[in-house]
Amino acid sequence: MVNIMPSSKISNFDDTRAILQTRKLCKYFTVRSQGKKATLKAVDEADLNIYPGKTLGLVGESGSGKSTIAFTMVQLHKPTSGDIFYEGNSVTNLKGLSLKQFREQVQMIFQDPYSSLDPRQTLKTIVERPLKLHTDLKSGPRLEKIIEILNQVGLDTGQLYRYPHEFSGGQRQRIAMARALAVNPRMIVCDEPVSALDVSVQAQILNLLKKLQEDLNLAYLFVSHDLNVVRHISHEVAVIYMGRIVESAPTEELFNNPSHPYTRALLVSMPGLERQDQSLKLIGEISSPIDPPPGCRLASRCPVARDACKEVTPELKEVSPGHLVACLD
Ligand SMILES: Nc1ncnc2c1ncn2[C@@H]1O[C@H](COP(=O)(O)OP(=O)(O)O)[C@@H](O)[C@H]1O
Ligand SMILES: [Mg+2]
Repeated sequence: MVNIMPSSKISNFDDTRAILQTRKLCKYFTVRSQGKKATLKAVDEADLNIYPGKTLGLVGESGSGKSTIAFTMVQLHKPTSGDIFYEGNSVTNLKGLSLKQFREQVQMIFQDPYSSLDPRQTLKTIVERPLKLHTDLKSGPRLEKIIEILNQVGLDTGQLYRYPHEFSGGQRQRIAMARALAVNPRMIVCDEPVSALDVSVQAQILNLLKKLQEDLNLAYLFVSHDLNVVRHISHEVAVIYMGRIVESAPTEELFNNPSHPYTRALLVSMPGLERQDQSLKLIGEISSPIDPPPGCRLASRCPVARDACKEVTPELKEVSPGHLVACLD
């Protein structure tokens, strides 16, 4: 691909191995708060790197900004500021044909496949549509391709003429994956793809995602509020709190040496981890980042906050190779 970026942007793109990078990505919403216009900073200066064949897990409580990052990354939201680079090229303001090509290569799957699948379309029509839109395949080879994809995602090819409501939740997520795979993507943004499923079905879908990743060298952004799920599938994990990335590290490093008070608090509340240290628990509840004051957004809830935490916004700093933490402590 020819690099047509203005030189000022090239300096921002700093990891040639990444398939997708965000740099200081911001998505703000204008909302009304106490009768006045206010700015809700749903995503604030997010720097993320996603690599071919690897999964970046993005974890945080509900309302922390995970879906907003996912939507902004695939350009379903226009970023307020910052950059998105795909294979080294800025895709922040793509339009027309280039946007269509980008959307082909970076697909998205959602928590509730039922609402993203047209209830009036059969399995065949759902998987055939992207093939019709994005390839020149005639009907015979197209059907062969549909069958190949259904085999890849573990769906019964005898069910081609069934409708979404005739499938289980897990099977519907497989249909959503089949539709995403139809255009040979390089990356899939997965927004809570197993959160609505029973635990046993969750494991099957996660294993399928892993297998597809190995076979097709897919890159994933994997969004979840569930640390167990994220640990199972991710190579690296980023933790988000009120729109800010507060910590990121290779998966085992993050779970073995959680360094940010927020990450530690999340781990304490994780089922199966019998850590009862009260000093790691947060005070109160997450709120919306509406016109957030300077300083660390966790400061009012943090068990180890100092006065400075309310004044200085902590930047991410490397504490060990690949392990970044945004805390003054
Ligand atoms: N379209 C929108 N308009 C206004 N606020 C929004 C919009 N979408 C999300 N938000 C707010 O942005 C914050 C992050 O939301 P979201 O990204 O959905 O979080 P998560 O996916 O982590 O649960 C929340 O405070 C939410 O209320
Ligand atoms: Mg969400």
